[in-house]
Amino acid sequence: MTHLTEGGLSSVVVGVGSRLPKRIVSNADLQKSLDTSDEWIVQRTGIRQRHVAGEDEPTSKLGLGAAQAALADAGLSPDDVDLVIVATSTPDHTFPSVATQIQAGLGMTHGAGFDLQAVCSGFVFAVATADKFLRSGSHRRALVVGAETFSRLVDWTDRSTCVLFGDGAGAIVLEAQSREQAQGRGVLTTHLRSDGRHREKLYVDGGPSTTRTTGVLRMAGREVFRHAVGMATDVAEDAFAATGTNAEDLDWFVPHQANRRIIEASAEKLGVAPSKVVLTVDLHANTSAASIPLALSVAKADGRIKRGDLVMIEAMGGGFTWGAALIRW
Ligand code: UT7
Repeated sequence: MTHLTEGGLSSVVVGVGSRLPKRIVSNADLQKSLDTSDEWIVQRTGIRQRHVAGEDEPTSKLGLGAAQAALADAGLSPDDVDLVIVATSTPDHTFPSVATQIQAGLGMTHGAGFDLQAVCSGFVFAVATADKFLRSGSHRRALVVGAETFSRLVDWTDRSTCVLFGDGAGAIVLEAQSREQAQGRGVLTTHLRSDGRHREKLYVDGGPSTTRTTGVLRMAGREVFRHAVGMATDVAEDAFAATGTNAEDLDWFVPHQANRRIIEASAEKLGVAPSKVVLTVDLHANTSAASIPLALSVAKADGRIKRGDLVMIEAMGGGFTWGAALIRW
């Protein structure tokens, strides 16, 4: 748990951006090759379409596009950034990291970049990590990216998983500002959790040190669903308690976009009004670590999220991992 520093530094969001693959695959498209239907997918998940990356659109390219868009939104250049953290479970290669590829793509030879893997909770973990770097004074500005190509991990013949996922990337720029400069803005609190006993419920059945292959995503969907709402709302409540705020104080609730039913049940349990919930699962499906920054990008671009708004991000995913952060935008 972290609190907004007293007399110290805050990590303020100064830019947000995203990049989606060109190709859109609708539920009707999937119906042609799978025993599924638009009706089933929409009713059970809220998903209507997903973007699927082409061979020329690896995770690093999507992440680079999102990073460039976030820098443009902030009015900054790569020279102004000294830290790149990428949340991803679908790197281009086992190594080097996607972060170093994005760094190179931006023409940065200074600073540091690394990847962080917490599956669907990755972006929340990355924001918490960047916040700690920035508030320590070791770095000045961080690009925090969530970038994924889950289309490469799913078994396209398994209707119980492949219809759920999509590809994309989103990014924010966080800047260390003095308390006077920040005026109450910034990452107010972050809460991270994990519990490895749940490994078998959501995992990829391959990897370099076991099968020497990439593997395929396996999920006991109903089991994940059973835990998702409780875990997500627990950390959200922790964030409210740490800051003396409650659901009524929130301007925007921007949860991980896995399933509309999970999102609506979480909002209801927390007492967040439906009008404050940012929902993009219909357009993007589940893009894992990219889903929150993609949703932030949509809600910032359409004028919903404004300077000074109180924004809650939360996620739950493989591991299990789960986490929440409260941000004064
Ligand atoms: O991002 C990280 C975390 N991941 C999640 O949060 C996902 C959590 N889980 C879920 O979102 C939901 O459990 C799913 C969307 C995966 C599944 O929804 P559900 O309401 O839990 O359905 P179910 O798994 O209980 O399946 C119901 C039926 C089954 O048929 P029977 O056994 O009742 O005859 C499935 O075979 O739906 C069938 N089914 C499908 N039918 C048409 C499963 N997938 C499909 C499909 N199209 N794509």
